[in-house]
Amino acid sequence: MKNILISITAVFMASMALADYPDRPVTLVVPFAAGGPTDHIARDLAESLRKTLGQAVTVENTGGSGGTVGTARVAKAVPDGYTLLLHHIGMATAPALYRSLVYRPLDDFDYLGMVNEAPMTLIGRANFPAANYGELIKWISANPGRASLANAGVGSASHLCGLLFQSALKLPMTTVPYKGTGPAMADLASGQVDLMCDQTTNTVPQIESGKVKAYAVATTKKSINSTLAKLPTLDEAGLKGFNITVWHALYAPRGTPKAVIDKLNAALKLALKDPELLKRSEALGVTVISDSRINPAEHKRFVEAETVKWGGIIRAVGQFAD
Ligand code: MLT
Repeated sequence: MKNILISITAVFMASMALADYPDRPVTLVVPFAAGGPTDHIARDLAESLRKTLGQAVTVENTGGSGGTVGTARVAKAVPDGYTLLLHHIGMATAPALYRSLVYRPLDDFDYLGMVNEAPMTLIGRANFPAANYGELIKWISANPGRASLANAGVGSASHLCGLLFQSALKLPMTTVPYKGTGPAMADLASGQVDLMCDQTTNTVPQIESGKVKAYAVATTKKSINSTLAKLPTLDEAGLKGFNITVWHALYAPRGTPKAVIDKLNAALKLALKDPELLKRSEALGVTVISDSRINPAEHKRFVEAETVKWGGIIRAVGQFAD
């Protein structure tokens, strides 16, 4: 009898806790250093989620190994809805890039919904001796292995773009890994590194301020941003079919209560309707996901399909991290 009473009390207490969720600040883990595109998107989203959840949403940057360190941290976190992950295409590419990934992207997380899609741009330091894409390819061809290419570590979107760019050109470059493309951008703007392929969330302000040169857009679709719309796509410039769009999505550790998942998904849908967030996204060439796709089932289906797609492409290029 006593055990029955204890378990009834426990269930009642748990349901009360769920009903009050969130009753303390939520941590949103970004698996890259502060200042990069993932960080920008997370801070924008955190501000909108603060309004829709009615609780502070604190961004925590846990960079390293192309986003896998921060992602592993959330995979192992308590599944109570107070530790979330904002991650991108790396959720689908890491399994093909790491032989010993310490988490299972499709099994160790509860999927909360898609967030947005960001194009990538190929940029260079302001004083790089190439004024446009044609001159850039001539320089790289005449100086094989000399151009330095920054990225956020194996498994990052910037690494994937650089890997496919080198493979398409059949020209090697010297890759320089950082804990995020925020710190990488600082080195590019100061001329310490030559090139980088990064998301428009990070590159548009630097391009528009003249701190870096823009050579091409890495999506086949022209950008919604007027500055980027003037650039050739890599597909137009000769790398037929070159097309990378970096999508971002929201995750919780596997085992998070369904009532919490439903609350978070509802809060995400509302947050992505925030006029301020929509305005900032458009100015940076980022497309916010439509309401019908912001659901756990569609999110999971999409990542499963992307994992198969990018796995085949990466294995064809034949590079593993470890
Ligand atoms: C990446 O290159 O994958 C990340 O976007 C880098 C970052 O967000 O810092």
